[in-house]
Amino acid sequence: MLACFRQILAQPSIAIDLGTANTRIYAGRGEDFREEPSLVQHIRQDQKVHAPDDYFTYLNTQFTSSPLRGGVIVDIHNAVSLLKPLLKQTRTGLRHPVSLACAPTDTSEKERKRLAEAILGAGAAHVAIIPEPWAAAIGAGIDVSKPTSQLLIDIGEGVTDLAVLRGGRLVYASAVRTACHDLQQAIKNAVLSRYRVNLSQPDLERLTHEIDSGREYDPTAASPINLTGIDIIRHLPREITVNREEIIKAMTPVLTKILGMIETGIRRLPPWFATEVQDSGLWLTGGGSCIRGIDRLLAARTNLAVHLTPDPNHAVINGAIKALHGWKEQAEWWKRITWPTLPS
Ligand SMILES: Nc1ncnc2c1ncn2[C@@H]1O[C@H](COP(=O)(O)OP(=O)(O)OP(=O)(O)O)[C@@H](O)[C@H]1O
Ligand SMILES: [Mg+2]
Repeated sequence: MLACFRQILAQPSIAIDLGTANTRIYAGRGEDFREEPSLVQHIRQDQKVHAPDDYFTYLNTQFTSSPLRGGVIVDIHNAVSLLKPLLKQTRTGLRHPVSLACAPTDTSEKERKRLAEAILGAGAAHVAIIPEPWAAAIGAGIDVSKPTSQLLIDIGEGVTDLAVLRGGRLVYASAVRTACHDLQQAIKNAVLSRYRVNLSQPDLERLTHEIDSGREYDPTAASPINLTGIDIIRHLPREITVNREEIIKAMTPVLTKILGMIETGIRRLPPWFATEVQDSGLWLTGGGSCIRGIDRLLAARTNLAVHLTPDPNHAVINGAIKALHGWKEQAEWWKRITWPTLPS
Protein backbone atom coordinates (compact mmCIF):
# COMPACT_ATOMS: atom_id res chain seq x y z
CA MET A 1 0.00 0.00 0.00
CA LEU A 2 2.74 2.41 1.09
CA ALA A 3 4.86 1.38 -1.89
CA CYS A 4 1.90 2.03 -4.16
CA PHE A 5 1.43 5.55 -2.74
CA ARG A 6 5.14 6.19 -3.08
CA GLN A 7 5.01 5.23 -6.75
CA ILE A 8 2.04 7.49 -7.39
CA LEU A 9 3.80 10.44 -5.76
CA ALA A 10 7.32 9.78 -7.08
CA GLN A 11 8.68 11.97 -9.85
CA PRO A 12 9.48 9.66 -12.78
CA SER A 13 12.60 10.18 -14.92
CA ILE A 14 12.46 9.36 -18.62
CA ALA A 15 14.94 9.50 -21.54
CA ILE A 16 14.22 10.75 -25.06
CA ASP A 17 16.20 10.62 -28.30
CA LEU A 18 14.18 12.82 -30.64
CA GLY A 19 15.83 12.04 -33.98
CA THR A 20 15.07 13.35 -37.46
CA ALA A 21 13.90 9.88 -38.59
CA ASN A 22 13.16 8.04 -35.35
CA THR A 23 12.09 8.93 -31.83
CA ARG A 24 13.07 6.66 -28.97
CA ILE A 25 11.59 7.07 -25.54
CA TYR A 26 12.36 5.26 -22.31
CA ALA A 27 9.72 5.32 -19.58
CA GLY A 28 12.21 4.83 -16.76
CA ARG A 29 10.70 1.62 -15.42
CA GLY A 30 13.38 -0.81 -16.53
CA GLU A 31 11.40 -1.91 -19.60
CA ASP A 32 12.59 -1.60 -23.18
CA PHE A 33 12.49 1.83 -24.79
CA ARG A 34 9.85 2.52 -27.42
CA GLU A 35 10.79 3.52 -30.97
CA GLU A 36 8.54 5.31 -33.44
CA PRO A 37 9.16 7.11 -36.74
CA SER A 38 9.42 10.89 -36.15
CA LEU A 39 6.51 11.51 -38.48
CA VAL A 40 3.44 13.64 -38.04
CA GLN A 41 0.42 13.30 -40.27
CA HIS A 42 -0.63 16.55 -41.89
CA ILE A 43 -4.36 16.79 -42.34
CA ARG A 44 -5.36 17.60 -45.90
CA GLN A 45 -8.26 19.86 -46.67
CA ASP A 46 -9.57 17.49 -49.33
CA GLN A 47 -9.10 14.31 -47.34
CA LYS A 48 -12.56 12.95 -48.17
CA VAL A 49 -11.93 12.92 -51.91
CA HIS A 50 -9.76 9.83 -52.16
CA ALA A 51 -9.53 8.06 -55.46
CA PRO A 52 -8.83 4.40 -54.74
CA ASP A 53 -5.61 4.12 -56.67
CA ASP A 54 -1.93 4.07 -55.90
CA TYR A 55 -1.38 7.64 -56.91
CA PHE A 56 -3.50 8.94 -54.06
CA THR A 57 -2.07 6.41 -51.64
CA TYR A 58 1.30 7.74 -52.64
CA LEU A 59 0.20 11.36 -52.29
CA ASN A 60 -1.12 10.68 -48.81
CA THR A 61 2.21 9.29 -47.67
CA GLN A 62 3.73 12.60 -48.73
CA PHE A 63 1.61 14.39 -46.16
CA THR A 64 3.49 12.94 -43.26
CA SER A 65 6.70 14.69 -42.37
CA SER A 66 9.23 14.98 -39.59
CA PRO A 67 9.13 18.10 -37.41
CA LEU A 68 12.95 17.92 -37.42
CA ARG A 69 15.54 18.80 -40.05
CA GLY A 70 19.22 18.23 -39.59
CA GLY A 71 18.65 16.88 -36.06
CA VAL A 72 16.84 19.99 -34.76
CA ILE A 73 13.20 20.95 -34.39
CA VAL A 74 11.90 23.15 -37.20
CA ASP A 75 8.22 22.80 -36.36
CA ILE A 76 7.58 22.99 -32.63
CA HIS A 77 3.82 22.54 -32.95
CA ASN A 78 4.24 19.20 -34.73
CA ALA A 79 7.10 18.19 -32.44
CA VAL A 80 4.71 18.54 -29.49
CA SER A 81 2.06 16.53 -31.39
CA LEU A 82 4.61 13.79 -31.98
CA LEU A 83 5.83 13.67 -28.39
CA LYS A 84 2.58 14.14 -26.48
CA PRO A 85 1.12 10.63 -26.95
CA LEU A 86 4.53 9.07 -26.31
CA LEU A 87 5.00 10.97 -23.06
CA LYS A 88 1.45 10.18 -21.99
CA GLN A 89 2.28 6.50 -22.11
CA THR A 90 5.20 6.96 -19.75
CA ARG A 91 2.96 8.41 -17.02
CA THR A 92 2.49 6.15 -14.00
CA GLY A 93 1.64 8.43 -11.11
CA LEU A 94 0.43 11.91 -10.49
CA ARG A 95 3.61 13.78 -11.28
CA HIS A 96 4.88 14.83 -14.67
CA PRO A 97 8.19 13.19 -15.64
CA VAL A 98 11.64 14.73 -15.74
CA SER A 99 13.21 14.10 -19.12
CA LEU A 100 16.79 13.53 -20.17
CA ALA A 101 17.03 14.46 -23.87
CA CYS A 102 19.87 14.50 -26.41
CA ALA A 103 20.91 17.09 -29.01
CA PRO A 104 23.61 17.31 -31.70
CA THR A 105 26.83 19.00 -30.57
CA ASP A 106 26.49 21.95 -32.96
CA THR A 107 23.08 23.06 -31.69
CA SER A 108 22.68 26.65 -30.61
CA GLU A 109 21.21 27.57 -27.25
CA LYS A 110 18.03 28.58 -29.07
CA GLU A 111 17.73 25.17 -30.73
CA ARG A 112 18.19 23.35 -27.43
CA LYS A 113 15.65 25.67 -25.83
CA ARG A 114 13.17 24.73 -28.57
CA LEU A 115 13.82 21.04 -27.85
CA ALA A 116 13.19 21.62 -24.16
CA GLU A 117 10.02 23.61 -24.94
CA ALA A 118 8.67 20.79 -27.13
CA ILE A 119 9.26 18.19 -24.41
CA LEU A 120 7.76 20.46 -21.75
CA GLY A 121 4.82 21.18 -24.07
CA ALA A 122 4.30 17.42 -24.44
CA GLY A 123 3.97 17.00 -20.68
CA ALA A 124 7.38 16.88 -18.99
CA ALA A 125 8.03 18.82 -15.79
CA HIS A 126 11.75 19.48 -16.40
CA VAL A 127 14.20 18.77 -19.19
CA ALA A 128 17.98 18.25 -19.13
CA ILE A 129 19.90 18.01 -22.42
CA ILE A 130 23.15 16.14 -23.11
CA PRO A 131 25.22 15.90 -26.34
CA GLU A 132 24.17 13.01 -28.57
CA PRO A 133 27.66 11.59 -29.25
CA TRP A 134 28.41 11.52 -25.53
CA ALA A 135 25.29 9.41 -24.98
CA ALA A 136 26.11 7.34 -28.09
CA ALA A 137 29.58 6.53 -26.75
CA ILE A 138 28.15 5.29 -23.45
CA GLY A 139 25.43 3.36 -25.28
CA ALA A 140 28.00 1.76 -27.58
CA GLY A 141 29.90 0.48 -24.56
CA ILE A 142 32.95 2.72 -25.02
CA ASP A 143 34.80 3.39 -21.78
CA VAL A 144 34.42 7.19 -21.86
CA SER A 145 36.26 7.58 -18.56
CA LYS A 146 39.59 6.55 -20.17
CA PRO A 147 42.17 9.34 -19.87
CA THR A 148 42.97 9.12 -23.60
CA SER A 149 41.04 10.50 -26.59
CA GLN A 150 38.36 8.38 -28.21
CA LEU A 151 36.69 9.48 -31.41
CA LEU A 152 33.04 8.73 -32.14
CA ILE A 153 31.06 9.58 -35.25
CA ASP A 154 27.26 9.33 -35.25
CA ILE A 155 25.71 9.37 -38.72
CA GLY A 156 21.96 9.81 -38.37
CA GLU A 157 19.15 10.91 -40.65
CA GLY A 158 19.80 14.64 -40.52
CA VAL A 159 23.14 15.18 -38.84
CA THR A 160 26.64 13.70 -38.80
CA ASP A 161 28.24 14.43 -35.46
CA LEU A 162 31.91 13.90 -34.63
CA ALA A 163 33.13 14.03 -31.05
CA VAL A 164 36.23 13.29 -29.02
CA LEU A 165 35.72 11.97 -25.50
CA ARG A 166 38.46 12.00 -22.92
CA GLY A 167 38.39 11.41 -19.17
CA GLY A 168 34.57 11.22 -19.15
CA ARG A 169 34.19 14.56 -20.92
CA LEU A 170 33.40 15.73 -24.42
CA VAL A 171 36.54 17.66 -25.36
CA TYR A 172 36.06 18.32 -29.07
CA ALA A 173 33.13 18.24 -31.49
CA SER A 174 32.25 19.12 -35.03
CA ALA A 175 29.03 18.41 -36.90
CA VAL A 176 27.49 18.79 -40.32
CA ARG A 177 23.77 18.72 -40.99
CA THR A 178 24.12 16.26 -43.81
CA ALA A 179 23.36 12.58 -43.37
CA CYS A 180 21.10 9.75 -44.61
CA HIS A 181 18.21 12.06 -45.54
CA ASP A 182 20.48 13.81 -48.06
CA LEU A 183 21.58 10.48 -49.53
CA GLN A 184 17.96 9.50 -50.11
CA GLN A 185 17.15 12.93 -51.50
CA ALA A 186 20.08 12.68 -53.93
CA ILE A 187 18.84 9.30 -55.21
CA LYS A 188 15.27 10.62 -55.44
CA ASN A 189 16.40 13.63 -57.52
CA ALA A 190 18.62 11.53 -59.81
CA VAL A 191 15.81 9.05 -60.56
CA LEU A 192 13.28 11.85 -60.97
CA SER A 193 15.38 13.76 -63.47
CA ARG A 194 16.35 10.67 -65.52
CA TYR A 195 13.10 8.65 -65.47
CA ARG A 196 10.45 11.23 -64.41
CA VAL A 197 9.49 8.77 -61.68
CA ASN A 198 9.04 9.63 -58.04
CA LEU A 199 10.21 6.85 -55.70
CA SER A 200 8.55 6.24 -52.37
CA GLN A 201 10.39 6.77 -49.08
CA PRO A 202 10.53 3.02 -48.30
CA ASP A 203 12.12 2.34 -51.73
CA LEU A 204 14.67 5.11 -51.21
CA GLU A 205 15.55 3.64 -47.81
CA ARG A 206 15.79 0.16 -49.29
CA LEU A 207 18.28 1.43 -51.88
CA THR A 208 20.53 3.05 -49.28
CA HIS A 209 20.38 -0.14 -47.22
CA GLU A 210 21.26 -2.43 -50.15
CA ILE A 211 23.85 -0.48 -52.10
CA ASP A 212 27.49 -0.96 -51.16
CA SER A 213 28.77 2.60 -51.15
CA GLY A 214 32.35 1.51 -50.54
CA ARG A 215 32.60 -0.48 -53.76
CA GLU A 216 34.65 0.89 -56.59
CA TYR A 217 32.58 2.72 -59.19
CA ASP A 218 32.58 0.50 -62.26
CA PRO A 219 30.13 1.50 -65.00
CA THR A 220 30.63 -1.79 -66.87
CA ALA A 221 29.47 -3.88 -63.93
CA ALA A 222 25.90 -2.59 -64.01
CA SER A 223 23.49 -4.82 -62.11
CA PRO A 224 19.84 -3.88 -62.50
CA ILE A 225 17.35 -3.12 -59.73
CA ASN A 226 13.60 -3.06 -60.43
CA LEU A 227 11.64 -0.30 -58.74
CA THR A 228 8.08 0.96 -58.90
CA GLY A 229 7.40 4.64 -58.50
CA ILE A 230 4.89 7.21 -59.67
CA ASP A 231 5.28 8.61 -63.16
CA ILE A 232 5.05 12.36 -62.54
CA ILE A 233 3.71 13.09 -66.03
CA ARG A 234 0.97 10.46 -66.22
CA HIS A 235 0.30 10.23 -62.47
CA LEU A 236 0.37 6.45 -62.63
CA PRO A 237 2.60 3.79 -61.14
CA ARG A 238 5.47 2.80 -63.44
CA GLU A 239 8.13 0.15 -63.15
CA ILE A 240 11.68 1.17 -63.96
CA THR A 241 15.01 -0.60 -64.00
CA VAL A 242 17.97 1.30 -62.63
CA ASN A 243 21.49 0.02 -62.20
CA ARG A 244 23.54 0.10 -59.03
CA GLU A 245 26.15 2.38 -60.54
CA GLU A 246 23.56 5.09 -61.16
CA ILE A 247 22.59 4.95 -57.51
CA ILE A 248 26.19 4.99 -56.29
CA LYS A 249 26.87 7.93 -58.59
CA ALA A 250 23.93 9.84 -57.07
CA MET A 251 25.08 9.03 -53.53
CA THR A 252 28.74 9.93 -54.10
CA PRO A 253 28.58 13.76 -53.70
CA VAL A 254 26.72 13.42 -50.37
CA LEU A 255 29.09 10.73 -49.11
CA THR A 256 32.01 12.91 -50.19
CA LYS A 257 30.60 15.80 -48.16
CA ILE A 258 30.16 13.63 -45.06
CA LEU A 259 33.62 12.07 -45.43
CA GLY A 260 35.14 15.50 -46.09
CA MET A 261 33.64 16.89 -42.90
CA ILE A 262 34.98 13.94 -40.93
CA GLU A 263 38.42 14.33 -42.48
CA THR A 264 38.47 18.08 -41.75
CA GLY A 265 37.24 17.47 -38.20
CA ILE A 266 40.06 15.00 -37.60
CA ARG A 267 42.64 17.28 -39.23
CA ARG A 268 41.64 20.10 -36.88
CA LEU A 269 42.10 18.05 -33.72
CA PRO A 270 44.65 19.50 -31.31
CA PRO A 271 47.90 17.50 -31.87
CA TRP A 272 47.79 15.55 -28.61
CA PHE A 273 44.19 14.40 -29.26
CA ALA A 274 45.13 13.49 -32.85
CA THR A 275 48.02 11.30 -31.69
CA GLU A 276 45.81 9.50 -29.21
CA VAL A 277 43.10 8.97 -31.81
CA GLN A 278 45.69 7.39 -34.14
CA ASP A 279 46.03 4.64 -31.53
CA SER A 280 42.40 4.20 -30.57
CA GLY A 281 40.75 4.57 -34.02
CA LEU A 282 37.17 5.69 -34.44
CA TRP A 283 33.78 4.29 -33.46
CA LEU A 284 30.72 4.56 -35.67
CA THR A 285 27.13 4.83 -34.47
CA GLY A 286 23.76 5.95 -35.88
CA GLY A 287 21.68 4.40 -38.69
CA GLY A 288 24.14 5.77 -41.28
CA SER A 289 26.92 3.64 -39.83
CA CYS A 290 25.02 0.63 -41.26
CA ILE A 291 25.45 1.87 -44.86
CA ARG A 292 27.36 -0.89 -46.57
CA GLY A 293 31.00 -0.02 -47.13
CA ILE A 294 31.01 3.22 -45.13
CA ASP A 295 33.56 1.73 -42.72
CA ARG A 296 35.90 0.94 -45.64
CA LEU A 297 35.49 4.43 -47.11
CA LEU A 298 36.21 6.01 -43.74
CA ALA A 299 39.23 3.83 -43.03
CA ALA A 300 40.70 4.68 -46.46
CA ARG A 301 40.04 8.39 -46.03
CA THR A 302 41.24 8.80 -42.43
CA ASN A 303 43.87 6.07 -42.06
CA LEU A 304 42.23 5.17 -38.76
CA ALA A 305 40.95 1.82 -37.55
CA VAL A 306 37.15 1.94 -37.80
CA HIS A 307 35.17 0.09 -35.13
CA LEU A 308 31.56 -0.77 -35.81
CA THR A 309 29.46 -0.83 -32.65
CA PRO A 310 26.73 -3.25 -31.57
CA ASP A 311 23.20 -1.89 -32.09
CA PRO A 312 24.44 1.42 -33.58
CA ASN A 313 20.90 2.74 -34.31
CA HIS A 314 20.10 2.72 -30.60
CA ALA A 315 23.43 3.83 -29.14
CA VAL A 316 22.11 7.31 -28.21
CA ILE A 317 19.03 6.13 -26.34
CA ASN A 318 20.93 3.24 -24.70
CA GLY A 319 23.54 5.72 -23.46
CA ALA A 320 20.87 8.15 -22.24
CA ILE A 321 19.22 5.30 -20.33
CA LYS A 322 22.54 4.32 -18.71
CA ALA A 323 23.23 7.95 -17.77
CA LEU A 324 19.71 8.32 -16.38
CA HIS A 325 20.18 5.26 -14.19
CA GLY A 326 23.39 6.74 -12.87
CA TRP A 327 21.79 10.07 -12.00
CA LYS A 328 18.12 9.57 -11.20
CA GLU A 329 18.56 8.66 -7.54
CA GLN A 330 20.24 12.02 -6.92
CA ALA A 331 17.85 14.75 -5.81
CA GLU A 332 17.03 17.18 -8.63
CA TRP A 333 19.68 15.59 -10.85
CA TRP A 334 18.56 17.60 -13.89
CA LYS A 335 19.72 20.86 -12.32
CA ARG A 336 23.33 19.73 -12.33
CA ILE A 337 23.48 18.92 -16.04
CA THR A 338 25.07 21.63 -18.11
CA TRP A 339 25.92 21.76 -21.79
CA PRO A 340 29.71 21.46 -22.25
CA THR A 341 31.72 24.45 -23.47
CA LEU A 342 33.57 23.22 -26.53
CA PRO A 343 36.55 24.75 -28.34
CA SER A 344 35.31 26.45 -31.51
N1 LIG B 1 21.19 -1.05 -42.54
C1 LIG B 1 21.15 0.22 -42.95
N2 LIG B 1 21.79 0.61 -44.07
C2 LIG B 1 21.76 1.88 -44.49
N3 LIG B 1 21.10 2.87 -43.85
C3 LIG B 1 20.45 2.54 -42.72
C4 LIG B 1 20.43 1.22 -42.20
N4 LIG B 1 19.70 1.21 -41.04
C5 LIG B 1 19.25 2.46 -40.89
N5 LIG B 1 19.70 3.25 -41.88
C6 LIG B 1 19.36 4.67 -42.11
O1 LIG B 1 19.65 5.42 -40.96
C7 LIG B 1 18.78 6.56 -40.95
C8 LIG B 1 18.23 6.75 -39.55
O2 LIG B 1 19.31 6.84 -38.66
P1 LIG B 1 19.06 7.26 -37.15
O3 LIG B 1 17.91 6.49 -36.62
O4 LIG B 1 20.38 7.16 -36.47
O5 LIG B 1 18.62 8.78 -37.37
P2 LIG B 1 17.97 9.76 -36.31
O6 LIG B 1 18.56 9.50 -34.98
O7 LIG B 1 16.50 9.71 -36.42
O8 LIG B 1 18.43 11.15 -36.93
P3 LIG B 1 19.39 12.33 -36.37
O9 LIG B 1 20.17 11.80 -35.22
O10 LIG B 1 20.26 12.69 -37.52
O11 LIG B 1 18.46 13.42 -35.99
C9 LIG B 1 17.66 6.27 -41.96
O12 LIG B 1 17.82 7.08 -43.10
C10 LIG B 1 17.86 4.82 -42.30
O13 LIG B 1 17.49 4.52 -43.63
MG1 LIG C 1 20.20 10.25 -33.92
